[in-house]
Amino acid sequence: MSFSKVIAIDGPSGSGKSTIAKKLAETLDVLYIDTGAMFRALAYCCDQRNISLTAGPEMDEFLSSINLEYGKSSDFLIGIDGENLSLKIREHNVSKLASIISQIPKVREYLLNFQRDLASRVVCVMEGRDIGTVVFPNAFCKFFVTASVEVRSNRRLNQLQEAGESELSLEQIMIDVKKRDESDMNREVAPLKMAEDAALVDTSEMELVEVLSSLKSSVLDKAKGIGISL
Ligand code: DC
Repeated sequence: MSFSKVIAIDGPSGSGKSTIAKKLAETLDVLYIDTGAMFRALAYCCDQRNISLTAGPEMDEFLSSINLEYGKSSDFLIGIDGENLSLKIREHNVSKLASIISQIPKVREYLLNFQRDLASRVVCVMEGRDIGTVVFPNAFCKFFVTASVEVRSNRRLNQLQEAGESELSLEQIMIDVKKRDESDMNREVAPLKMAEDAALVDTSEMELVEVLSSLKSSVLDKAKGIGISL
């Protein structure tokens, strides 16, 4: 079997997968690819341009006309048509829009091609919901990172407070987190689910350093086993 040089990290929002994926990529000195940022950028841009978040010719025309850019520089993670959206996509309301747009098959197809193309030349850590199952089923290393709803909601609250968006209560956030899990796990196309050959990582009671060191040694072992140099 031939493997893609991709370290796939999937899991629900707030599981800590973004922090883990970013740090792991840093430690291994490989490219970090945040696919959630791509769904967020498309959703944000549609909202700005009054494009309805539904399948149809308007969405097709939008997808075929935009220039999506990823990882242009350290402060330009993602942008569309030259506009840097790296900070705007983190606003709370964009999470809901991203979840809606992620259910549109053409949007998923567009981003699947974009993601495969980005990762085609280099070793990378790619995080998302369907990386190990749909985008790179032959990734050489796969993790499914999760944590309890309570832990994930608390983390989200802290993030929002740090970003100055503190008007939401923990209860409201828990409701939103559950709703988003529900729609991510039950959508028809590429639902959030653990790949059969992924390792499960529950971060509810683990420190980041602990998680990182265990993931790093597992990646290095697998890479060595199939001759990928890291
Ligand atoms: O990881 P995130 O919260 O930034 O993701 C935003 C939304 O995009 C979330 O509702 C799930 C969706 N998403 C997806 O469907 N597939 C991915 N590979 C990444 C994100």
